[in-house]
Amino acid sequence: MGNSNSVSLPDLAATQALALRLARVLRAGDTVFLTGDLGAGKTTFARTIIQTLCGVDDAPSPTYTLIQTYDWSGGELWHADLYRIEDASELDELGLDDAFGDAIMLVEWPDRLFGQAPDDRLELDLEMLGDSAGDSMDRPRRAGLTGFGEWETRLDDI
Ligand SMILES: Nc1ncnc2c1ncn2[C@@H]1O[C@H](COP(=O)(O)OP(=O)(O)OP(=O)(O)O)[C@@H](O)[C@H]1O
Ligand SMILES: [Mg+2]
Repeated sequence: MGNSNSVSLPDLAATQALALRLARVLRAGDTVFLTGDLGAGKTTFARTIIQTLCGVDDAPSPTYTLIQTYDWSGGELWHADLYRIEDASELDELGLDDAFGDAIMLVEWPDRLFGQAPDDRLELDLEMLGDSAGDSMDRPRRAGLTGFGEWETRLDDI
């Protein structure tokens, strides 16, 4: 299910360019799930969108706060990192339910929503390519984009 395509991201600039293209088509109520291993570039990708739409440079990772909220010209933007969520009951107090469909939602580790996903959503999976030996983060990535619901057709706009 869903409509998919894949984009090669040879370097950081390519990842930022893809995020910029997505930022240009985002509308109020859109949900973007960001998946991929630790360090794959989910926050980096979100940071470019936040910079573009909200004018905030160097947005912090919501690693500990779980959610950072921003304003853009069309309303709110929520950046969530749910990595530390261990049980569905911990989601209740975050207020995500009310924000979905209203704010732009950028969600890292969306598996921690335990299936409470909006029907209309874009899923962006970042995969690190090449040799994982050594500790360099400067490895090429590939982005897999899958659109669900209205994003099955909107995928072509990115
Ligand atoms: N092509 C690339 N795309 C994205 N990030 C890259 C790329 N090349 C190098 N990097 C670097 O990799 C790091 C990615 O870290 P980032 O915090 O964005 O990952 P993350 O997926 O959010 O991790 P976590 O799961 O811990 O939240 C950054 O330091 C970034 O500069
Ligand atoms: Mg992150």
